[in-house]
Amino acid sequence: MAVTDEQEPEPGSEEEPQATPPLDPEVLARRRAALAYVRQLGDPILRTKARPVERFDDKLREEVRSMQGLMHDALGIGLAAPQVGISHRLLVYRVEPGSPIVALANPEIEWSSRDEEIAEEGCLSLPLVNVEVERPIGVLVRARDERGEEVVIEASGLEARVIQHEIDHLDGVLILDRTTREQRKAAIRAMREAEQAAAAAS
Ligand code: NI
Repeated sequence: MAVTDEQEPEPGSEEEPQATPPLDPEVLARRRAALAYVRQLGDPILRTKARPVERFDDKLREEVRSMQGLMHDALGIGLAAPQVGISHRLLVYRVEPGSPIVALANPEIEWSSRDEEIAEEGCLSLPLVNVEVERPIGVLVRARDERGEEVVIEASGLEARVIQHEIDHLDGVLILDRTTREQRKAAIRAMREAEQAAAAAS
């Protein structure tokens, strides 16, 4: 999941003072390079249900490290394995800047709050799209970490939103499927226009 303007804290906000990424050219170049590894809308793996992780070995931990690095460089707050071409039920996320990036394998939502909330979401696989998505405010998730240890996470707010967004990726679901018809149409139109503009410019 990508941070949208709405999720970026206001400058000077005391709650998350370092959340706004510095936009110097080096950071932007790294972001572009990382995004080149992220599968984009139209790639069939984004529409495929991912396979459970069965082996918690060095290869898996290498996958996790590589996803953590890409997510960090892409300035994302969440990334799912299918987005980097791996059909594994594996995701990484970090909502607090500077904290460790959490990895969850085979995550299952055990409980969702009845209360839902609408917020804008972006996605590294749809860089031009920000749409409103309604999701439960809180979730209880059971998963395994990269060593195979069981973890239970009680999340709310942005953390719950990111986890749900990334679990959607493991089931081949994108934010376009979760928004209103109007926003989906507008997003697809904007993507087509950007493609045409890029084609005309080349
Ligand atoms: Ni996404």
